[in-house]
Amino acid sequence: MRRRSFLSLGTAGVCSVLAGCGDEPEGFNLRDVPSGPIVLGFSQVGSESGWREANTASIKKAAERNRITLKFDNAEGDQKKQIAAIQSYIAAKVNVIAFSPVVETGWDGVLRQARDAGIPVVLTDRLIETTDDSLYVSSIGAEFASEGNLAALYLENDYEDYSGHVNVVELLGTPGSSPTKLRTEGFRETASRHGKLRVMDSETGNWTVAGGETAMKKLLRRVKDIDAVFAQNDDMGLGAVKALQAAGKKPGTDVRIVTVDATRAGLTALVEGKLNYVVECSPEIGEQLMTVVVDLFFGGQVQKRVESQKAVFDSDSAADALPDRTY
Ligand code: AHR
Repeated sequence: MRRRSFLSLGTAGVCSVLAGCGDEPEGFNLRDVPSGPIVLGFSQVGSESGWREANTASIKKAAERNRITLKFDNAEGDQKKQIAAIQSYIAAKVNVIAFSPVVETGWDGVLRQARDAGIPVVLTDRLIETTDDSLYVSSIGAEFASEGNLAALYLENDYEDYSGHVNVVELLGTPGSSPTKLRTEGFRETASRHGKLRVMDSETGNWTVAGGETAMKKLLRRVKDIDAVFAQNDDMGLGAVKALQAAGKKPGTDVRIVTVDATRAGLTALVEGKLNYVVECSPEIGEQLMTVVVDLFFGGQVQKRVESQKAVFDSDSAADALPDRTY
């Protein structure tokens, strides 16, 4: 059994896995290079949004392209199911485990089990809260706080010539998940720095269109004079569009809406003028995951953090991007 340490790879992959970086006690005992195809056990959060469907498709396609045997489980938004799936991968002695954690906390126990079995773990899309970062070898995904910052910045720019305050409500993702927490922090940080946007209230919509619609209806009852909505994903933003239309308001005009994801559905609504800005969070991280997985066993550099693609769309750039949008 070869001893590998991944702890010190955090600063931009300064050394390769096979070259090794020393023998810190936190390091994994990585099992030998597989003689056949690498077996990857992947636990997906669920299928709550268009983004998630695209993410699942990207992972499956990239596994196939890279000749990696994928064991895939859909946890349907349930942490217990994710833990059970990870334990089943440990029992099956897969070569590597990856998962997108439904919530941030509660992973240390099962990740220690993986480490004791010599199986490296990669986080995809979302992050975990842990006192021991060496429990995972790499995390791949978006800078969620920056997405929140950008959403606030673009919205605020629209009100440059307006001297009053802008009343904003937020549609939040699943409580306890890293994108919910960090997008909220980012948005509020930029909003409070400049003082023009005022977050009046927020409600969870659990990442779904139906959840966003219900949440928006509640907010319309609770908050007078809503100027703008920050929906933490496209699906909830599209739900807000429905709720606003049902209330006799014109989304995108009477109430401005900024969302995160940039799915086809989101960009289409942006071109139609129902949304005002969409911050991209790319679900297409399958190839990045497979690169990390292959590098773990075949001598590449494994970086502790791998970032996905990011952009901000308005209606013009959305119209340009739509023909090539695959999700
Ligand atoms: O973790 C990424 C988020 O999860 C996406 O923004 C949302 O659509 C998804 O369900």
